[in-house]
Amino acid sequence: MTEWVKKVSSKTNKPYFFNAATNKSFFTNDDLASLPTPWGFTWGPDKALLYVDLTTMKTQAEPPQGGGKKRKLDDAATSSSSSSSSGTVANAAVAYGIPAEVQGTATKQDTNAHHTHTEVDYIKRFTPLPVPVIGQPDEFTKQGITEKNMWNNLDLQVTETLRKTFKDYKVYDAQGVGVKFQAGVNPLEGMTLHNHIKRNNFRYCCEIGCAYGTSAQYMCQAFKDLGFTGGVGPNKAQLVSVDPYQDTQWKGIGALNVERAGLKEFHRVVQMKDFLALPMLLSEIVSGTRERYHMIFIDGMHLFDYTLLDFFYADLMLEVNGVIVVDDIKHPSVKKCMDYILTNYPHYRLVQTPCSSSAATFVKRFDDVIDGPPRCRRWNTHSDF
Ligand SMILES: C[S@@+](CC[C@H](N)C(=O)[O-])C[C@H]1O[C@@H](n2cnc3c(N)ncnc32)[C@H](O)[C@@H]1O
Repeated sequence: MTEWVKKVSSKTNKPYFFNAATNKSFFTNDDLASLPTPWGFTWGPDKALLYVDLTTMKTQAEPPQGGGKKRKLDDAATSSSSSSSSGTVANAAVAYGIPAEVQGTATKQDTNAHHTHTEVDYIKRFTPLPVPVIGQPDEFTKQGITEKNMWNNLDLQVTETLRKTFKDYKVYDAQGVGVKFQAGVNPLEGMTLHNHIKRNNFRYCCEIGCAYGTSAQYMCQAFKDLGFTGGVGPNKAQLVSVDPYQDTQWKGIGALNVERAGLKEFHRVVQMKDFLALPMLLSEIVSGTRERYHMIFIDGMHLFDYTLLDFFYADLMLEVNGVIVVDDIKHPSVKKCMDYILTNYPHYRLVQTPCSSSAATFVKRFDDVIDGPPRCRRWNTHSDF
């Protein structure tokens, strides 16, 4: 029988299990969401993933059968609690219940596997952001705003250009010729992005997919409201929009709308496909040219693999306690990708927002550690999703 001792973290009051002989801790099935209650997991001496029955403390190599309930987007959207609203806790590990004992080992080699590393070891470490304050799902309903009346609710239209877009249901090219408004976030989604920035003083954002600049205006107007100036550096804020078809398919109207709204100084457009742009943007961070992003909005190509690619890079580019929003989760391909994230990215927490039914908001809890201590991923496994 393994000699595990159940302990309670003095900081978070959460239980965890500790083995004094091996100096290892592990967590409950909350951390490997596909495990049925009451199972946890840890690593064996041969580095294999071991499953632990928390009632008997016996370990076994095979995953427990029966009773298991995979965490799916639908379940998670209704059951996950939103993150702490204190907005002052600077350490994500503490905020999300990782015992101090384990936080200290999170980036150490705790096995001899050469895979033991964080994927961001090569990125300069910055101070994590405070735990983000996320608006509650009912915040707009309380104001009488519904999915039906949101389109003409002026409180949700933060720029004159957006008001004109939603009123005419048209956007205008450089010659003033009207084009049907056929792609863009809805006012509830836009306002949710806007509020994420304003409530958390986010200054560095990125979006994949710009189209007519609807989401871009919501984000850049928030920077302006916060009193920032455009660019990168102290008290400066910037949105980087990745879209290979901005000048072609969208006739430059996205960048133009941001400019018409008086927000050009905050906007940088990268006209490249995501699979070329994101490695380039990541390399800017690795080389120290800029800090990691605070919020990343994924709304580009909605295929499963493109969405996963966007999330993969967004994770590397995002600061701890930053936020990733994925739009259009009702599309089967995007939804399937979200199921993958929920079952295989333990370092993200899904939180509820006013637009949870159409867009998923994730908070980054800590940096991914491959083959590190519990809560992290083994280098050659995945959980079915
Ligand atoms: C739904 S629209 C984005 C709407 C925008 N976020 C808004 O609210 O105004 C999807 C965008 O993804 C862009 N897109 C398509 N393939 C892409 C790729 N491989 N990389 C980046 N963006 C892509 C399209 O050009 C299009 O502008």
